[in-house]
Amino acid sequence: MRWEFNHGAAMTEHGDAIDSTEVRDAWDRAADAYAAGQASGRDYYRYEFFGPAQVAVCGDVAGRRLLDVGCGAGYFAREMALRGARVTGVDLSPRMLEHARRHEAAAPLGIDYREVDAEALDAAFAEPFDVVTSCLVLQDVPRPEAALRAIHAVLRPGGRAVLSMAHPCTDTPFREWLRDDAGRKQALAVDRYFARTVLRTDWRGWAYDFTTAAVHATLEDWFRWVLGTGFTLRGFHEPRPTEAAVRARPDLEDAARVPYFMILDLAR
Ligand SMILES: C[S@@+](CC[C@H](N)C(=O)[O-])C[C@H]1O[C@@H](n2cnc3c(N)ncnc32)[C@H](O)[C@@H]1O
Repeated sequence: MRWEFNHGAAMTEHGDAIDSTEVRDAWDRAADAYAAGQASGRDYYRYEFFGPAQVAVCGDVAGRRLLDVGCGAGYFAREMALRGARVTGVDLSPRMLEHARRHEAAAPLGIDYREVDAEALDAAFAEPFDVVTSCLVLQDVPRPEAALRAIHAVLRPGGRAVLSMAHPCTDTPFREWLRDDAGRKQALAVDRYFARTVLRTDWRGWAYDFTTAAVHATLEDWFRWVLGTGFTLRGFHEPRPTEAAVRARPDLEDAARVPYFMILDLAR
């Protein structure tokens, strides 16, 4: 089965597991199209609301030693460096890191990029970080609870983690916009929320088609992992576009009706 996704992708449900090799290979294949989509503005859900929302939650990061986990082509790492943070970016995908380093070479911000698995951060870094960020990554990690433990381990006591991810209440195995006869979206139908499964997303409408895999867990799972790791919850956010953004980009209207993303603001 295939379902329409909000920005040009379709999801299929699989009962099997994912491993880091599959994730790395998938994002390596995706990297050129994903980076080109960001550079061209194609990724406007990010630019119009969830990216700025996560930047706002981070607040003042000037002078902070900050680790961006799953940095991809470096979008969020650059946002943080532009605000004065001393940034290290890590990703599993060598090709994504090539794009990130290309940006750094073209417009240096002092960002250090390294190939590290989110589940193994503690083995890679001896000196603790003040802040860890992660923009739309943790749903892609095979064992999110292991990544949360690793993030906790590399933070200094009192440090913060600001983590965004696909909202599990709408990023469900079944998800379909019900439409009227004119094709207007009437309501989002979701189902199989409680299924812990793998969602494979076929991204269409980018420079070329690609497929990525993600873990579907419930909101309860996420809070159990976060609190079980020892984090304190400082805030919980569900970014949505402003009315002005929807006027400028009518496609964003669906994201003003249901939550597609969530941001966890955590303290160690
Ligand atoms: C949706 S992209 C987001 C990239 C970037 N944060 C951004 O907002 O543009 C997800 C990224 O997470 C990376 N990733 C997935 N699993 C990872 C892991 N276990 N460790 C490190 N990076 C991972 C992928 O390689 C990919 O670059």
